[in-house]
Amino acid sequence: MENDLILVEKKMHSHSSDYHTNLQQALDHLIASGGKRLRPVLALLVGKMLGAETERVITLAAAIELLHTATLVHDDLIDGSLLRRGIPTLNSEWSPAATVLAGDFIFARAAELAAETESIDVMKIFARTLSTIVTGEINQLFSRKRVANRQEYYKRINAKTASMFVLATKATALLSEANGEVIHNMEVYGYHVGMAFQIVDDILDFTGEQVTVGKPVASDLRQGIITLPAIYYNELHPDDENMQAVLDGNFYNDLLMTNLINSIRNSDVIEKSMNEARNFIEKGVDTISEFPFSAERDALIDFAEYVVDRDI
Ligand code: IPE
Ligand code: IPE
Ligand code: MG
Ligand code: MG
Repeated sequence: MENDLILVEKKMHSHSSDYHTNLQQALDHLIASGGKRLRPVLALLVGKMLGAETERVITLAAAIELLHTATLVHDDLIDGSLLRRGIPTLNSEWSPAATVLAGDFIFARAAELAAETESIDVMKIFARTLSTIVTGEINQLFSRKRVANRQEYYKRINAKTASMFVLATKATALLSEANGEVIHNMEVYGYHVGMAFQIVDDILDFTGEQVTVGKPVASDLRQGIITLPAIYYNELHPDDENMQAVLDGNFYNDLLMTNLINSIRNSDVIEKSMNEARNFIEKGVDTISEFPFSAERDALIDFAEYVVDRDI
C-alpha cells in the first residue's frame, strides 16, 4: 500500500517540461504539502479488493488526488483562506488571476491522467464529477447566509464532497471485472463515507484546532456558510437573535459572532451532528461488510471508522 502511494505521488508529479516554471513549481509545492491522501487510499484499496490492474488504479488515484488538489486551490481562493495543510495557500501569495489559472492547469493535468486509464467510462464519470462539484460549490456560494435546512445541506455536501469519494470507489470498480451489483455497492459505500467525511469536516470547523487541522477554524459561519451544527442549532434555538441575524445576512459584529460560535461549539448540536455522521458510516460499513472477506475489505471498514474518529 505504502509503495503504491509513493507511485501515485510520482505519477502526480509527472508532466512534460514545457510548462511555465511557476506552474510546475506551484504544482510540485502543492503535491509536496501532502494531505491525508484519503481518496487515493480508497481507490487503491478498492482496486486491490476487486482485482483491478494496479498500474491503471495508480494512474486513476493520481488523477483523483490532482482533481482534489485543484478544487482546493479554487476553494481556498473562493473562501479567502490563507492556510492549508499548515502552510500558506497559493492565493495568499499569488494574485487571484494566477491562482485561477494554476487551478485550471491542475484540473487539466488531472483530466489527462484520467484519460491515461483508457477507459471511456472512467473519463465520463470523472468529467461528470467535476461538474457536480462545481454545482455544489456554486450552490454554496449563492446560498451563503441563507440555507438552513438539512435537505439542502445534504444535497450540497453530496455534490461538493461525497461525489469525489464516489469517484474514487466507483471509477476504480469500473476498472475491474466487477459486476453491476458490486459497482453499485462501491458507489453506495463511497457516498456514505463521503457524506460522513464532510459532516465531520464541518464539525471540526467548530471544534478543531488550527494547529491540528492545518487550516483556519471557526470560519464557515463567519463567511455565512451554514453547515449541519448551525442548522441544528437554528432548529433548537429559533429565537437566538444572533443566529437569525446571520441568516438574514446582516451580521458583522465579530464579538457576537465569536459568542455564537462558542454557543454552537458547547451545545449538544455537535454530538447530534456526530451521530448523523455515524449513521452514514454505519450504512457504508453495512454495504462493505457483505463482501467476501479480504484484508482490503477490512481496511475499508477501518477507513470508514477513521473518518468519524479523526481530529485532523
Ligand atoms: C478537504 O479535504 C476538503 C474537503 C472536502 C473538506 P481533506 O481533508 O481530505 O484534505 P487533505 O487532502 O487531507 O488536505
Ligand atoms: C470542501 O469544503 C470544498 C471542496 C469541495 C473543495 P470546505 O470549504 O469545507 O473545505 P475546507 O474546510 O476548506 O477544506
Ligand atoms: Mg474551504
Ligand atoms: Mg471545511
